[in-house]
Amino acid sequence: MKRIGLSLCLAATGFTSIAQTVNIIPRPVELRQPKIAASFTISPSTVLVLEGTNLENSVNFLNGYLKNVYGFTLKTSKKAGSPNSIALNYERMDNAVPGAYKMTVNNKGVYIAGDNEQGVFYGIQTLIQLLPTEKPADSKLKIAYVSIKDYPRFGYRGMMLDVGRHFFPVEVVKQFIDNLALHKMNYFHWHLTEDQGWRIEIKKYPKLTEVGGFRNGTIVGHFPGTNNDNLNYGGFYTQDQIKEVVKYAAERYITVIPEIELPGHSSAAIAAYPQLSCFPDTPTVVPKGMMSETSKQQIAGGRVKIVQESWGVFRDVYCPSEYTFKFLQDVIDELVPLFPAKYIHIGGDECPKEAWKESAFCQGLMKEKGLKTEHELQSYFIGRIEKYINSKGKQIIGWDEILEGGLAPNATVMSWRGEKGGIEAAKQNHDVVMTPTTYVYFDYSQTKKEDSLVIGGFLPLEKVYGYEPIPAELTPEQGKHVLGGQANLWTEYIANPQKIQYMIFPRATALSEVLWSPKAGKDFADFQRRLETQYKRYDLWGVHYYKAAN
Ligand code: ACM
Repeated sequence: MKRIGLSLCLAATGFTSIAQTVNIIPRPVELRQPKIAASFTISPSTVLVLEGTNLENSVNFLNGYLKNVYGFTLKTSKKAGSPNSIALNYERMDNAVPGAYKMTVNNKGVYIAGDNEQGVFYGIQTLIQLLPTEKPADSKLKIAYVSIKDYPRFGYRGMMLDVGRHFFPVEVVKQFIDNLALHKMNYFHWHLTEDQGWRIEIKKYPKLTEVGGFRNGTIVGHFPGTNNDNLNYGGFYTQDQIKEVVKYAAERYITVIPEIELPGHSSAAIAAYPQLSCFPDTPTVVPKGMMSETSKQQIAGGRVKIVQESWGVFRDVYCPSEYTFKFLQDVIDELVPLFPAKYIHIGGDECPKEAWKESAFCQGLMKEKGLKTEHELQSYFIGRIEKYINSKGKQIIGWDEILEGGLAPNATVMSWRGEKGGIEAAKQNHDVVMTPTTYVYFDYSQTKKEDSLVIGGFLPLEKVYGYEPIPAELTPEQGKHVLGGQANLWTEYIANPQKIQYMIFPRATALSEVLWSPKAGKDFADFQRRLETQYKRYDLWGVHYYKAAN
């Protein structure tokens, strides 16, 4: 049917030049073009025809994009068969992962059919990539004739943003989400609590944001730093803002997974409520000589706990006491209605065990519960939280340290310390999201000549592109537990939105192909060729990106 449609258009156009190059990322499963160039023109008189229902999200996204980039929007109609139209509809396409769509561009216009609403939305993203990479003066957007059939490989295609180390306002978070949408990604992992800042309003514990949302200063330079900038820094999201972001993401078929870190990375919460620590009377330790003047004065004046001002991993962590469990359950109670996602991320990484070793309370608890090591105590901690979260109808995700001491029964594992944790979890029949430092840590440097401050590491574009999320060690059955992958953007050295863009582009573009496109046909040279068009699109968007990746 599509093929016939195409050949009819070709006959009608009579052009003889070579077909216009179409450069879509992520690479569609199937893309056909006529041998000779032919194009349809979208202009302000083109009509968006809604042949199916519930397509407003797709319409709004496309019109928003057209308005921002080209300065006009399209009218909508329900009249099927209109000429000069972009028709949106549904067609049944059985694919294991939701989001399949097909699309044709011919002399009648554009036709996009999705298997579901999400599929139509992804068709819109592909249409956006057919649009010119320069804004034409006459508002005539020529797009090449194509016929596309496409569907995602993985069901989890995500990126994480750490808003703890540096806080980013709602508008910046929305831009981050838009970039996910434009890359056909569907999960936004929002890292909301850290040693250096608690970023989500919890009404029952107002000090979490009043106290824990702000720090007295930040180390200057690369860890351990040269001194402290002595600047009060912070911010947080109100629950209304959280709802606004979750809705914004949902309109883009993106699920927001909140992360509330436990038992480690909890200095900000402890600064607000010192009883959460096993040692509430022991002052917060900031690496030598790096504490802000304000904190020094406050501690001299009797304050014990402060929000961290340095980066790294800290020994003062949540005490596994009933006070802490009550606190965390109350936090979860407020979280659940805000986030419709099936998952709550509970962290679980980098929790030093020294405080628990030194605490008479913890040692007594271990004895009482028959726990032999502090790793088992961590498993007890996570297991209790999991049980509570499960009782609310949700599931936990945790960093791969949650494997140590025994995995909680229903947990999904995020494998970050390489692929080992993911392999182990999949072998134990647990679901896995792959986020290994070696391939998807976008806070790592993308060039050996990086001239801005970054955490370290080296993760060039080709390495990201070459990533295969299903480890070879897994059997096909175990491999099914790999839900997909995610890039992580930790923000110790990312303090402004421009740097976010610079660190994610073009690596996020490469990741989108890793997670969406079929494994067969992967070709870095071909990706680089298509990326040239994407660079022009970045320019059109006015975003920052690393320009020498090719
Ligand atoms: C992590 O990077 N600590 C999960």
